[in-house]
Amino acid sequence: MTFWHFDKIDDLKGDWLFPTETRFGAGRIKELPSILASLNMSRPLIVTDRGLTATPLPELVRSTAAQTGTPLLWAEADQNPTGSQVVAGTKAFHDHHADGVIALGGGSGLDCGKAVALLAGLGGDLWRFAYPRSLEVQAERSPVPIVAIPTTAGTGAEVEASSIITNEEIPVKAGIVNLSMMPKVVIADPELTVGLPANLTAWTGMDALSHNLEALVVRQFHPMADAIGAVGVKMCHDWLPVAVANGRDLTARSYMMAAAIMGATSFVKGLGAMHALSHAIGALVGSQHGLTNAVLMPYVLEFNRPAIEQPVASLAAYMKLEPSFDAYLAHVKALSRTVGIPTRITDLGVKRQDFERLAAMALPDFNAGTNPRKLDVPSLVSILQAAS
Ligand SMILES: [Fe+2]
Repeated sequence: MTFWHFDKIDDLKGDWLFPTETRFGAGRIKELPSILASLNMSRPLIVTDRGLTATPLPELVRSTAAQTGTPLLWAEADQNPTGSQVVAGTKAFHDHHADGVIALGGGSGLDCGKAVALLAGLGGDLWRFAYPRSLEVQAERSPVPIVAIPTTAGTGAEVEASSIITNEEIPVKAGIVNLSMMPKVVIADPELTVGLPANLTAWTGMDALSHNLEALVVRQFHPMADAIGAVGVKMCHDWLPVAVANGRDLTARSYMMAAAIMGATSFVKGLGAMHALSHAIGALVGSQHGLTNAVLMPYVLEFNRPAIEQPVASLAAYMKLEPSFDAYLAHVKALSRTVGIPTRITDLGVKRQDFERLAAMALPDFNAGTNPRKLDVPSLVSILQAAS
């Protein structure tokens, strides 16, 4: 079964990239010392976000890394990490004479850590790596190795070569893109997610769903990514409610961690209006990324409907629903209700007078270009109005 059918030879092409070495499974954090040794990392900088310091995880990773070297914990990233935090983390890297980065956390810690490794290796102005300027400097490669350790099942940032960093002067959430930001090794240990509260489990899990789903409906010939995305969507529907209801269920936590990795694997195709708008809203009101995607999800699906009925109906068939767009839409709305997602962007603090501004911020976002329906400011405003 395929989700997109192409019969023009020019459409039957693509640039394909699949992720990196991943150590997946409960308890595998104990492999960190041997991984660091194999990468010749004896003075790693552990980059994470402030929020995580309320949990035992940073100290667990620090003490585990200390079995083979001299790690330094730097926990100064915000929920939406900023350019000045990346610069501060880079200074900490040099002050410590670090030889690698352990990026630890949800999207914030992982993204900040990957950007610190990039800037520590290459120096200069971070924003030259912001899309689309990043296309001109792809020949630059940071030699600083990254070990990624996710503590949520959502972003998938552990298996991809970009970071979302807020440029607070504009403000905009910029996509920092460079192939050297792909972690050398990922430790995907679902035990690290069992302490995640139910609301964050739901929000990050909906981010994983949004990645698999938005990637699947990007109109591009990439059947490997489509297959991964479809299975990832089903996995989120099957296992997210279980993980939210019982955070200690390691089976559900494992499937969700895999689904998050699958989401970031499938979005080599690109994403769409959910993420373009979510980045704008997050930059303006600071709302949590996965939650914002989740609220937008049904409205973006409705907007894209004329362009995506066929792949969404195929997805519904794969999921053993009635093979229609409407059946899947109803299914995703039911999942949102089950895991406690609000239905309106105004619930996130978005104000109607900001719709034009948000649309103008979302349009140049690097995900807007791959949305299955062409976007402009009026169409983005129409999505925001429908969602308010
Ligand atoms: Fe996302």
